[in-house]
Amino acid sequence: MTLPFARGLGNQLPVYVKTARNAEIWDVEGRRYIDFGSGIAVLNTGHLHPKVQAAVAQQLDAFSHTCLMVTPYGVAVELAEKLNRLAPGPTPKKAIFVTTGAEAVENCIKIARAHTGRAGVIAFGGGFHGRTFMAMALTGKVVPYKAGFGPFPAEVYHAPFPIAYHGVSVQDSLDALEHIFKYDIEPARVAAIIIEPVMGEGGFYIAPPEFLQALRKLCDLHGIVLVVDEIQTGFARTGKMFAIEHSGIEPDLMTMAKSLAGGFPLAAVVGKASIMDAPAAVASAEPTPVRRSPARRPWPCWRSSRKSISVRVPKQSVRS
Ligand SMILES: Cc1ncc(COP(=O)(O)O)c(C=O)c1O
Repeated sequence: MTLPFARGLGNQLPVYVKTARNAEIWDVEGRRYIDFGSGIAVLNTGHLHPKVQAAVAQQLDAFSHTCLMVTPYGVAVELAEKLNRLAPGPTPKKAIFVTTGAEAVENCIKIARAHTGRAGVIAFGGGFHGRTFMAMALTGKVVPYKAGFGPFPAEVYHAPFPIAYHGVSVQDSLDALEHIFKYDIEPARVAAIIIEPVMGEGGFYIAPPEFLQALRKLCDLHGIVLVVDEIQTGFARTGKMFAIEHSGIEPDLMTMAKSLAGGFPLAAVVGKASIMDAPAAVASAEPTPVRRSPARRPWPCWRSSRKSISVRVPKQSVRS
């Protein structure tokens, strides 16, 4: 049978779902399965948890969408406050909401770059951070995620993830970071280091707490933003609300997605308030001047860099 999906969208199991409840799935032929897949770490509270169902029904009675940036609403404020309280560490936190995990990762890099004014980002071999271009660049696995899709955004470097089973010690990984600082990019140009506290797609390897503690020290030493990708590990999957809590360190920024919304497309970045506010601070500190062209009216394009750009709009689309 030819499926209507393109080959890039692989199906792991030939099981077509009819209904699902808690940890079980029933297929269209009436067979019953235990769902160990859990939508790839999305269903920490199971399929259709009654509280999730009730919240969704209540929301659909009120409204489905207004766009938080256009006309905000109370439940988003409440959720942000709750996540800010849950995020580990004593530093005051702020949050943003986006739609997918990859989008949360992308925004972490934008925030870290705006905060530091630096470009470089270091990630780890075997790590997975998503399928958009920066997230793919950060992902440390060529096949099946990156092969054939380059070029990727520049200034991304990879160090080996410490995995004793593969003969890579904590010291080996720390030495590799020093090598990157020596051979590729000076630490003063590195905006962020991003790591999964437990590598997911790369094989379920736990980052040793002493490694995460050493990363925290290294980032503090060089003014680098430490980003912890909790998209797969968050929401009690490792026995604590967030996996990073096992190491006792406070990340600068955290990504959240998947089980945050139990199957609905919602993701977040939660982090130290002073860092989270960096993009807006850059934009409002230096309002971008609009360059005027005497011949035609320019169309201002706002961006967070120091220079302004103006794009000429074709004559017929300029309203008089
Ligand atoms: C650790 C990690 N980061 C990022 C992502 C990307 O999330 P999404 O698929 O929602 O874009 C995933 C998805 O599996 C992930 O496991």
